[in-house]
Amino acid sequence: MMEWTDRHCRYFHRLLTREARIYTEMITTAAVLRGDRARLLASHPAEHPVALQLGGSQPRELAECAAIAVDFGYDEVNLNVGCPSDRVQEGRFGACLMAEPLLVGDCVAAMKAKVDVPVTVKCRLGIDDQDPEQSLDALTRAVKQARVDALIVHARKAWLDGLSPRENRDIPPLDYHRVYRLKASHPDLVIVLNGGIANLDVAAAHLTHVDGVMMGRAAYQEPWRLLAVDPVLFGTMARFESPLAAAHALTPYVESELARGTRLNAITRHILGLFRGAPGARAFRRYLASAAVKPGAGIAALRDALAFVAHSETRSAAA
Ligand SMILES: Cc1cc2nc3c(=O)[nH]c(=O)nc-3n(C[C@H](O)[C@H](O)[C@H](O)COP(=O)(O)O)c2cc1C
Repeated sequence: MMEWTDRHCRYFHRLLTREARIYTEMITTAAVLRGDRARLLASHPAEHPVALQLGGSQPRELAECAAIAVDFGYDEVNLNVGCPSDRVQEGRFGACLMAEPLLVGDCVAAMKAKVDVPVTVKCRLGIDDQDPEQSLDALTRAVKQARVDALIVHARKAWLDGLSPRENRDIPPLDYHRVYRLKASHPDLVIVLNGGIANLDVAAAHLTHVDGVMMGRAAYQEPWRLLAVDPVLFGTMARFESPLAAAHALTPYVESELARGTRLNAITRHILGLFRGAPGARAFRRYLASAAVKPGAGIAALRDALAFVAHSETRSAAA
């Protein structure tokens, strides 16, 4: 997620779950090929398994970027066919590719020919006045023929004409049954459902219909939920017994990043929701949000913020 799942966020989320797959922000092929590649694609070895999401629509460029992603150690390459922003539409990629399924198929085929890691696509049900029955089927057929490894479906249309990117995450109605039907008619294709999944109970219910679930805002805004992913969805032990224990486990990373010149807030902005709903959470958030942006803010600001929640009852790793 743009501006959200940067490398600091991903390191933190990986502390909360060993099993979940983590995705980068969308990075355009132009940025990978002509931008500051080392900075854009940097990741920490602890992040795995981690997928790089690419934005683009030129098969040859996407194939080149996929190969670069593999060189940088990414475990999966995902193509964005869901982003509705104007900038993306001008570049003829993102959600507007829902209108060009054959091109998306060519993109997937080109990437598959170049790399051995999974190549996946994240799409919408359709755009604007497309009929989701046909648009999603056409896209699925095209990527399946190109041997895509999984299709992640944000279960709503994007209305490119008239809605902002933000509105496009909430206003077009969710239609989970459309995605369930897609899975039923393509039992051999890995289908992952995304959109509006608020907690792990809901996720588990979807998993009776589809192969996987992707959580966006709930995972970012209430990251404590990720502590339950391993025990609840994968049957393995939670990495930490409480959000507080996870926060303490993050401090060596914060210290080493501060020593490299990273600003405290660049990391701690991602943990503001860690105690959401628990006693002391509001004080933690408020204190950290203002202390971490002060010039020269150091590890003491994080420690002081944690004191607001340290003595409160800690939330166990439950959904
Ligand atoms: C701040 C923000 C940035 C996003 N950036 C991306 C992105 O880079 N690529 C993408 O595929 N989706 C992006 N999305 C959409 C989410 O991945 C997801 O599809 C959407 O929020 C619906 O899922 P949710 O209800 O679980 O959040 C973004 C969403 C938000 C809130």
